[in-house]
Amino acid sequence: MLVTGGAGFIGANFVQHTLRNHPTYDITVLDALTYAGDRRALEPVADRVRFVHGDICDTDLVDRLVAECDVVVHFAAESHVDNSLHDPAPFVRTNVTGTFTLLEAVRRHDRRYHHVSTDEVFGDLALDAEQKFTEETRYDPSSPYSATKAASDMLVRAWVRSYGVRATLSNCANNYGPYQHVEKFIPRQVTNLLVGARPKLYGAGLNVREWTHVEDHNDAVHAILERGRIGETYLIGSGDERSNREILELVLEVMGQPRDAYEHVSDRPGHDLRYANDSTKLRTELGWRPSYVELRAGLADTVDWYRANEWWWKPHKERTEARYRSLGR
Ligand code: NAD
Ligand code: TYD
Repeated sequence: MLVTGGAGFIGANFVQHTLRNHPTYDITVLDALTYAGDRRALEPVADRVRFVHGDICDTDLVDRLVAECDVVVHFAAESHVDNSLHDPAPFVRTNVTGTFTLLEAVRRHDRRYHHVSTDEVFGDLALDAEQKFTEETRYDPSSPYSATKAASDMLVRAWVRSYGVRATLSNCANNYGPYQHVEKFIPRQVTNLLVGARPKLYGAGLNVREWTHVEDHNDAVHAILERGRIGETYLIGSGDERSNREILELVLEVMGQPRDAYEHVSDRPGHDLRYANDSTKLRTELGWRPSYVELRAGLADTVDWYRANEWWWKPHKERTEARYRSLGR
């Protein structure tokens, strides 16, 4: 199995998850080790994984690695909305050209391919609506990040239809869990509290996200690899929707702080209001169920992980906050 982006948050958890639960796979990780990649996330399995430091846009390297594997699981991406607003160029390159490069190699060598994507490709939902995204929802991305992920999904669909590439796609809701970069909402607030800084809430904090534990996401990816129908898209989500303010208050409570010990900072331009996935297809066709059904317990585990693993996140913290300060957030 070739795993792209295996030194990032979800990819590193996926590699560890796979070796724990599906130990017959031989894994090669291809990762460019951008600011978001950290090889130390693979330390627990370092002796069982072949690590290749390289770029998914490198046609020759990708061709060679794809030729050697049976299945490609593609996580590598530029993944942070705030960064995409500031400088979209690396998003177009990695998310669009990188996916194109992989698809061409997969087509040449006729390999099974799974494409990891986000529900952000659908745009956003009204805060007060009952409606959720489904596999049929029209694409309507808002940010450069989601636009480039949408473009990459479209390439996959076209390569399935036009060239018969054996691909599946998944669009997951927001993830949380160990090894998530400190630029993202939950780890930023947890590590702020651990270094004695105040958490930062964008705007009024009313925006809603559906929080899914990274283990549940990775379990779904395996269900799709094993039982998913070629050419199909599956939406992944826990069903647990929370406003950012609720999440922050839960984090503060779990960490023994007053519920109002945070500050409001300027809002993100074009900030999507609400994401929510209807994951009925994944649940009924493939029998997937999330095992992290209690968000509070999952958050408490995650807080414990960040408390115990300062060695992993501390080297990224100061640079990340300096960047946020320059953006006024
Ligand atoms: P991440 O930013 O933590 O990790 C991305 C990884 O990709 C890093 O290790 C980075 O070094 C690597 N990478 C970046 N550019 C590369 C390139 N050109 N060549 C090779 N490697 C490169 O991201 P993540 O949060 O783990 O997200 C993984 C995937 O899951 C992405 O495709 C993302 O769109 C998708 N996704 C994420 C979430 C979420 O909540 N984090 C939710 C749904 C879907
Ligand atoms: P994020 O983790 O960046 O994921 P996404 O934008 O892809 O959903 O942010 C999750 C939510 O948290 C989003 O509505 C923006 C908000 N947010 C804050 O309120 N404060 C922060 O410091 C960050 C990083 C995000």
